[in-house]
Formats: sequence, structure tokens, C-alpha cells
Amino acid sequence: MDFSAPTSQAALVRDKFDARASDYTTWYEGETLGAGAFRRRRELTLEVLRNLPPGKVLDVGCGPGVLVSGLLEQGHEVWGVDFAPAMIEQCRAAFEHESRAHFAVGAIEALDFDDDSFDAITCLGVVEYLDDDRAALRELHRVLRPGGLAVITCPHYWAPWRRWDALYWRLVQPLRSLLGRAPYSLVSHREYRESAYRALLAEQGFFVEDVAYYGFGLVPTPLDRKLPRLHASIGRCLDSQARGPLQKLGMGFNITVRKGPPTKGLPK
Ligand SMILES: C[S@@+](CC[C@H](N)C(=O)[O-])C[C@H]1O[C@@H](n2cnc3c(N)ncnc32)[C@H](O)[C@@H]1O
Repeated sequence: MDFSAPTSQAALVRDKFDARASDYTTWYEGETLGAGAFRRRRELTLEVLRNLPPGKVLDVGCGPGVLVSGLLEQGHEVWGVDFAPAMIEQCRAAFEHESRAHFAVGAIEALDFDDDSFDAITCLGVVEYLDDDRAALRELHRVLRPGGLAVITCPHYWAPWRRWDALYWRLVQPLRSLLGRAPYSLVSHREYRESAYRALLAEQGFFVEDVAYYGFGLVPTPLDRKLPRLHASIGRCLDSQARGPLQKLGMGFNITVRKGPPTKGLPK
């Protein structure tokens, strides 16, 4: 991606996350369903990687580095890349004394690393903002070594909360526009069906090893904002459904893929 001429979506996304860099970590540690869901996807990611031998891990769209400590604790050397410069400043400030953590401003569509550089890649909360899913997956595949694992998160289209939220805003936004109020968010944000994303991954040469759902928000918009604690606590009760029969209620899924043929499963 050419930074000097970002598409309008990329520019909006970069500005949004530049503006959020200073308070993202505080929000992330908060009591909301959204923050709890983001922590849960981090936990699921670390669980999947925990039995890998220490190696080189790339965290793409690393934000202020919310995953970095966990990866370092597992013994990995970490490279964090994000296209929002303010996010990278946060990372450098937080990990300035850590010689095994390296950070750079960069875009997922044009990573400044050699082929086959990493043993594992994490990409949490990023793909939904991209103009081109295929371009990003091609790059992840290129920099991952054969046999390496990548964990990618996707917002889940069929989560009941998401379908209701979309309908609610479709009904409410025309009224807001009449009142001269701006859309709730200018940044568009894709949602994914697991089967379609699996097909995209297969097309790029990835083999799916694991899928785990997170973010079980069931209190519908706008009640979720009025009852945030209830929304969050119902969500926590259902976290155990990550791979259970109710998994498809989750607002997002972590998909773990391998570059190269499938093996006997994740390292135990
Ligand atoms: C929702 S935040 C997720 C941060 C962190 N990974 C987490 O789990 O909370 C999305 C991050 O992806 C970054 N991002 C979005 N599009 C990107 C792109 N094309 N290349 C690199 N980073 C991107 C944003 O700047 C932002 O910091």
C-alpha cells in the first residue's frame, strides 16, 4: 500500500486509530462487553500459540501492543506492525526496555519483511477494515514460514446481536440524518461468514487448524448501552462456548491456519 495516497477507507481507519491510540489500552481493560470480547480473543490466541517453541512472531495491526506481553512471556521475539503511527509510538513507549520487541509503522498489504520470516503471525481486529482481503492474506502467507501458524480474527456476520444491530441502525439512521446528526461511525467495517472466509484462506494456501468464537453479546441494541453490565456478564457466561454447540452466537471468531499441509493438529 502506498502511504502517501491511501484510499479513503484506509485514511479513515488510520485516522480513527491514530486518534484512539492514547486511550485504547484503558478502554481495552474496561468492563464493557466489547473490551471483554477483545481480551477473550487475545486469550484464545495465546492458548493456541502456547505450545509453540519460542520463535519469531509478527503481530500485524498490533495497536498499542495489547498482545505483546503475552507473546514475550511465551518466549517469543515479537515484531509489531501497525499503519497508525500513534499506535506504534505507544508500543515503543511501553516496551522501550524490551530487546525482544520491535515495532514499525507499516501496512498489512505491503509488509517490509522477507519471505518465510516468521514462525507465527497474529492479526487481531484488522481484516474487517481492509479494502482487499486477498492482498492481505497473500502478504501474511508470503512472510509466514512453511508450516507456520497464523491466528486471524473476524467479526461474525451471523451473530444475532450483529444482525439486530445492523437492522436497528438501518431504521434509526434516516431519523438521525433528518435531525442533522452524523452517522454513528464513518468507518466501514466488514463482517464474515466462516465458510466464505475459509474458502478465501484455502485459495491463498492456508489450512484451517482451529476455529473459536468469542464475544457472546446477546442484549440487543440500544438496550446493550443502557445495561452494559448485564450485556457483559451474559457474554462472560457464554465464553465457554468458543468451540461448543452455541459457538455461532459469538460476535467474532479466531481462525487459526497453517501455511502448508495440515498436520496432526495444534501443538499439544
Ligand atoms: C481494532 S485495532 C486492534 C488492535 C489489536 N490488534 C487488538 O487486538 O486489540 C485495529 C488495528 O489495526 C490497524 N490497522 C488497520 N488497518 C491496517 C492496515 N491496512 N495495515 C496495518 N494496520 C492496520 C489499526 O491502525 C489498529 O491499530
